[in-house]
Amino acid sequence: MKIDFQETTDDLAKRINIHSQFGSRDIDAWMLEILDLQPGIKIMDAGCGSGKQCFSFYHYLNGNVQITGTDVSESLLDEARAKNQEIDNAIEFKFLDFNLPFDLPENYYDLISACFTIYYAQDIPFTLAEMHRLLVPGGRLFTTGPMPSNKQLFYDIIKEATGKPIPPMPGSSRYASQIYGTMQDLFSKTEQHIFQNPLTFGSVEPFMVYTRASMSEDRKLWNSLFQTHEEFEEVMTAIEKTAQKYLERDGSLVMTKVVGGFIATK
Ligand SMILES: C[S@@+](CC[C@H](N)C(=O)[O-])C[C@H]1O[C@@H](n2cnc3c(N)ncnc32)[C@H](O)[C@@H]1O
Repeated sequence: MKIDFQETTDDLAKRINIHSQFGSRDIDAWMLEILDLQPGIKIMDAGCGSGKQCFSFYHYLNGNVQITGTDVSESLLDEARAKNQEIDNAIEFKFLDFNLPFDLPENYYDLISACFTIYYAQDIPFTLAEMHRLLVPGGRLFTTGPMPSNKQLFYDIIKEATGKPIPPMPGSSRYASQIYGTMQDLFSKTEQHIFQNPLTFGSVEPFMVYTRASMSEDRKLWNSLFQTHEEFEEVMTAIEKTAQKYLERDGSLVMTKVVGGFIATK
């Protein structure tokens, strides 16, 4: 499966900000609670983007941890490296493409995390096998991704505004169809956790900031709805009108993020 992914630092930062401003729960606190990390461990964070989870792990363990953050995007890695200066470059950030053999030590890491990213891999069994290879026996792989009921309101509004079906989203569709099954095949034990976070918007504006960042980040997935910049803007105008209607009807826009956390033990 060829996935054309193009995350811009700007789109990712906008969505992270909207989650922290309008959400009622903190996903990193949930992640740290279910992982119950012990000091002194070695972590590899795959698809680390600008380093959100790497910095969470680091602060949670008061720096008593060895962390390598990896990503295919040099611009996101540069952003992570800039923040890394605040902690004396304690974390290593390096290039890694899910679709190539991982150039990292084998049987080495206690935890590999891959948050909101594994579904961009072209060949899931290959990428999960590479992760399995790098873990110590008893080491854990932690992946997160959207569940099929994720942000129902967002999809309802887009469907009504455009009159078109929502194209399949690799995150939710690939977890159900392939990712969890492959984790079960490769690892000795797997468990699932669910995180729900309602984002409550009292006006249309932040919902549109989120929608623009999300649909422009994943623009290749949405090409049945728009292709040119003009078409993108027409779709945004229609979405804004429908969102306004929902807001007047319901008093607020509540978009609930429903995220799965999957832990597999080698
Ligand atoms: C939604 S972002 C998540 C970033 C970070 N884990 C977070 O939650 O903030 C998805 C990440 O997957 C990375 N990615 C996409 N395709 C990849 C690939 N083939 N190999 C490695 N990383 C990839 C992107 O560059 C981006 O940083």
